[in-house]
Amino acid sequence: MNNILKLIDKLEREHSLSLAEYEFLLENRNEETTEYLRKKAENIRKSIYGNAVFIRGLIEISNICKNDCFYCGIRKSNTLCQRYRLTPDEILSCAENGYKLGFRTFVLQGGEDGFFTDKVLCDIVKKIKALFPDCAITLSMGERSEESYRLLKKAGADRYLLRHEAINEELYSRLHPEKMLLKTRINCLQTLKKLGFQTGCGFMVGAPFQNNRHIAEDLKFIEEFQPEMCGIGPFVPHKDTPFGEYPGGSAELTCFLLSIIRLIKPNILLPSTTALGTIHPEGRELGILSGANVVMPNLSPENARKKYALYNNKLNTGAENAFHITQLKNKIEKIGYEIVTDRGDIRKD
Ligand code: 5AD
Repeated sequence: MNNILKLIDKLEREHSLSLAEYEFLLENRNEETTEYLRKKAENIRKSIYGNAVFIRGLIEISNICKNDCFYCGIRKSNTLCQRYRLTPDEILSCAENGYKLGFRTFVLQGGEDGFFTDKVLCDIVKKIKALFPDCAITLSMGERSEESYRLLKKAGADRYLLRHEAINEELYSRLHPEKMLLKTRINCLQTLKKLGFQTGCGFMVGAPFQNNRHIAEDLKFIEEFQPEMCGIGPFVPHKDTPFGEYPGGSAELTCFLLSIIRLIKPNILLPSTTALGTIHPEGRELGILSGANVVMPNLSPENARKKYALYNNKLNTGAENAFHITQLKNKIEKIGYEIVTDRGDIRKD
């Protein structure tokens, strides 16, 4: 059997490869090996989660951000971005809509907006939890202090997403302004884990300057950190950012990596991201077929959704819209999977 297939077998058995092996896998992949890997990822995902696809109602609560990440459309320096912030009542009403549609997890995502102090954010979390005690809350609100994370956990937040973006120091510093430090990001992730959050890291595929060695390092990091969730999606350029002219990442590599991550951690919660759906007409479905088991349709109010543009041409219609859940259900059923009304916590493998 050829070397790549042997490596894939080893990854399936041991959930671990060396840096050089990951890099080799990435460098030498082809259609045959990709399909071999994909089938293994799909089988292992089915052995734990069956055909279930978990849904998360995404509420984009603010596009105001103090950070200036070079890739991101809502970066502070983008003066063309129309800023908005949902009020606590608007956020609650999004959750109410979502509950009626069958969502049992709400993801509150936003820029690092000073308005959302611990008090404000904790109050929102408590209110949602009081109204919907059978729901999980995921926060995706960036870097905060240990004390802040502790208070949010105490208020009832269950999960926290904070992509590490790049575990390679040099790459991280080429994607972010000088005052953003990889060390801080990793500290936050470790704190979140310590506090008992189901924690998610992740990175963009095909980000400017990223090579296969960098990706191999990210995979090694995922192996070691053992996140409960991992968000990966293609880099999609946004014209009003310093990276506006760089090429975007591919759906093919994104799907290949979803399969690898499924083999690294068989029970991981792995979303098929909006960015993947944006760059390929069947992106969402391809992600699920490659080992993803989560989708995050958008529950934000219509006018907020347009303004929450991390990248250009972000999908916000059709099955990406939580209000069109039936359309999403049909698409998922067509590929042999099923959307479930469930909190969708991580299962023991
Ligand atoms: N393309 C793809 N993903 C992006 N993100 C930010 N900007 C872009 C972009 N241009 C991702 C980052 C961030 C998450 C919320 O969105 O990885 O962590």
